[in-house]
Amino acid sequence: MKVNFVDLKAQYQTIKPEIDNAISNVISNTAFVLGKAVADFEKSFASYCETKHAIGINSGTSALLMALKALQIGEGDEVITTANTFIATAEAISYAGAKPVFVDIEEKSYNMDPSKLEKAVTKKTKAIIPVHLYGQPADLDPIIEIAEKKGISVIEDSAQAHGALYKGKKTGGLAKVGCFSFYPGKNLGAYGEGGAVTTNHDDIAQKVRMLRDHGSSKKFYHEYIGNNCRLEGIQGAVLSVKLKHLDGWNDARRKNADLYRKYLKGTMVKVPEEMPYAKHVYHVFCVRVKDREKLIDFLKQKNVYTNIHYPIPIHLQNAYSFLGYKKGDFPVTEGCMDEILSLPMFAELTEEQIKYTTDCIKEFYQKA
Ligand SMILES: Cc1ncc(COP(=O)(O)O)c(C=O)c1O
Repeated sequence: MKVNFVDLKAQYQTIKPEIDNAISNVISNTAFVLGKAVADFEKSFASYCETKHAIGINSGTSALLMALKALQIGEGDEVITTANTFIATAEAISYAGAKPVFVDIEEKSYNMDPSKLEKAVTKKTKAIIPVHLYGQPADLDPIIEIAEKKGISVIEDSAQAHGALYKGKKTGGLAKVGCFSFYPGKNLGAYGEGGAVTTNHDDIAQKVRMLRDHGSSKKFYHEYIGNNCRLEGIQGAVLSVKLKHLDGWNDARRKNADLYRKYLKGTMVKVPEEMPYAKHVYHVFCVRVKDREKLIDFLKQKNVYTNIHYPIPIHLQNAYSFLGYKKGDFPVTEGCMDEILSLPMFAELTEEQIKYTTDCIKEFYQKA
């Protein structure tokens, strides 16, 4: 048996006629950049996220950058986030001209620890970017409470949490701005790069719309120095088709997470916890294990493919050495670093594949 880490071919087989037809329509209409397919998707995605606006962007990284720019965050400003995230969260802050400042995470949720947040806020702090890591929402209420008290903005990095709920409400609409990635392997993935900004604020939406298109709302008339961060027509069309399946796919991921829990019960493997305020959508099924590198090799020999999200936290990455952080600054984040392991997770994963994966894990620890 082979168990891929993700299997986009399996997903495509379930929606092939719809996807082929949607792509073919865009090609016939030659609306390759923005256009009706993107506008239609923006409407349905805003409705899905329970927000007033959704703006299609060419990647999740650009979505974060556009959000920061729309909030006029730049040179001399600080933006707080966590170090256990994909580097894009910090890169967007840096590209906006601001300085990323990290706070530690909670052991249970792997998300920003609100109790450590206030100490990181300075006079220069302009925004906080909690990341809904692995598909589980960060504990937003205390984060927003601190932000409101200090008069700073909260931007949700929802790149891994399409359809996740915090206290019954969709991510992306819980703070001032939400940012999504539609990288192909995401719970809602394009057939190329893609992203979106969501917001209930008309002024922010209007500015992001202009910034993604060279600071313009009328061709060749430019109000701001913007960028080219437009979503392509084909991606809009693909995303509209896939959005209709998202809840079903998220339910399947949750079912798969339960099966992993069932089959890993009684082993040394620590399975993820679902926080009482959260509906997790398991973009990543992240467990904690001992002897990780040997286990990864063993599983590979057995044709089971895993991943690590993320092997090095951002404050210890070479690219960010100039910030002056050192080992020991974020003990919870660093404590996870050598133990976290992402097991195969996607909607089409079968019970047989999960059983096989967990049997292989058990075999490894019996031998060890
Ligand atoms: C938490 C997080 N933020 C931002 C991004 C950036 O998104 P993209 O790859 O679409 O630029 C990603 C993508 O992996 C992500 O996981």
